[in-house]
Amino acid sequence: MTSISSPLIAPSILAADFARLGEEVAAIEKAGADWIHLDVMDGHFVPNISFGPAIIKALRPHSKLPFDVHLMIEPVDPYLEAFASAGADHITVHAEAGPHLHRSLQAIRALGIKAGVSLCPATPPEALSEVLDMTDLILVMSVNPGFGGQKFLHSQTRKIKTLRDMIQSSGRSIRLAVDGGIDPETAPLAIAAGADVLIAGSAVYGREDYAAAIRALRNSN
Ligand code: DX5
Ligand code: ZN
Repeated sequence: MTSISSPLIAPSILAADFARLGEEVAAIEKAGADWIHLDVMDGHFVPNISFGPAIIKALRPHSKLPFDVHLMIEPVDPYLEAFASAGADHITVHAEAGPHLHRSLQAIRALGIKAGVSLCPATPPEALSEVLDMTDLILVMSVNPGFGGQKFLHSQTRKIKTLRDMIQSSGRSIRLAVDGGIDPETAPLAIAAGADVLIAGSAVYGREDYAAAIRALRNSN
């Protein structure tokens, strides 16, 4: 019941060649990706800076795949509209990034796109119990956000299981993504726990053959 046969694969362009981002996005679509994951970092909520809406807007014509925008920024509300008009199909905010998660999710849905919430490793799954009806996507961080190439935190599989149960008993259709340290060895653990979206930077863009890398993740369970 909780085992998902074919998870969606969402490569993170954080590990792509930033000098050739348009081609890198097109290449990953051709290689069989389901979503493009875009990590936005502000040097404040997380200790790293990546890119903002202007880059996302420039990338939009290079792929038809859903743009899954992961905002690691604080505050978040003043920027939601800019990311939506840049071409985001999903916007995921962090539960830790402000006191008004419910308002942020409402604002995202009001922009006509899917609303996601991410939890850092230290945040319990119960943080989402009052907003499940506002949520289309839950993103469990299996590393501390801010950098690619970190080691998968095994402690997070229990959280994925609890969230899968919460989703199941809510009767809602909510995607459950895992992000951080996902490779063909760790992906089966996340899938067994109930994840149905695998976000991976290094395990796709860090490989020579993107199609083979995506296949290896998709068939890893
Ligand atoms: C980390 C980002 C991740 C990151 C994943 O803060 O949210 O999406 O790019 O990179 P890997 O797969 O290399 O751990
Ligand atoms: Zn991410």
